[in-house]
Amino acid sequence: MELIDGKKIGEEIKKEIAAKVASIIDAGGEPPHLVAVLVGEDAASQTYIASKERACKAVGFTSSVYRYDSDMTEKQLLDVVDFLNNDPEVNGFIVQLPLPAHIDASRILERIHPEKDVDGFHPLNIGRLVLGLPSYLPATPAGIMLLLERAGIATEGRHCVVLGRSNIVGTPISLLMSRKANPGNSTVTLCHSKTENLAEITRQADILIAAIGHPGFVKEDMVKAGAVVIDVGIHRIPDDSEKGYYITGDVDFEKVAPKCSYITPVPGGVGLMTIISLLLNTFKAYNHEIYP
Ligand code: GUN
Repeated sequence: MELIDGKKIGEEIKKEIAAKVASIIDAGGEPPHLVAVLVGEDAASQTYIASKERACKAVGFTSSVYRYDSDMTEKQLLDVVDFLNNDPEVNGFIVQLPLPAHIDASRILERIHPEKDVDGFHPLNIGRLVLGLPSYLPATPAGIMLLLERAGIATEGRHCVVLGRSNIVGTPISLLMSRKANPGNSTVTLCHSKTENLAEITRQADILIAAIGHPGFVKEDMVKAGAVVIDVGIHRIPDDSEKGYYITGDVDFEKVAPKCSYITPVPGGVGLMTIISLLLNTFKAYNHEIYP
């Protein structure tokens, strides 16, 4: 069994981005600028935004966070999106999810200009992904593709089983894995809460991608010997440690890992790559690569 080391792969890619930013600055240019909009006090969102800021700093991007109270109105947030859409100093921005219940997230995401939508959540970018056209790929699926690519995992012709059909992970990763590309060219099965005989299907997986949102859901008897297992889950489980919690994924790592050819750890796997994908998308926005 080999671990797919998200930290190592992420650091490699950060170095590559930092070198490109350094040459832009040496040539007298401005660095790429990423903005995150954060509404309310959600703990996981605060952590994500803090890591995003650290990563931007590490590669030399300009990074800003626009923070608002959870009682801001939908109209006020739409005005913020309009402002960022029109700000020439901003190459790309994200509106951190989840949003407070009184704000319609779809309406906000659809208002983001597709060229600045570095989260890849706008329907135009999702539509372009479906058609195989250049688009900003959503950060987590793009991170998984980078891990597979950099770890040298063969995907062509193999059976990839995806657990979970969310808009931000399960659905886009199933599309990417079936695309005519490398990584890709897999035969994909997308499983969800209504799938019957789930373990029978997951046991057929050469590549199993767990994005189901339940800690330790994937057990030993659900995995074929020699499978590649990608664990997208990130769960905080309360304990007696100083921090008050530990982090675990959707896979029962202790039991499953010995059966795998490759597995991503949690933490230290897919989670770290999400931020890297966001940096790469921001760099593409800066260079007008998707919408020249
Ligand atoms: N919340 C959890 N993951 C994400 C993400 O990738 N982007 C945004 N905007 N919000 C999130």
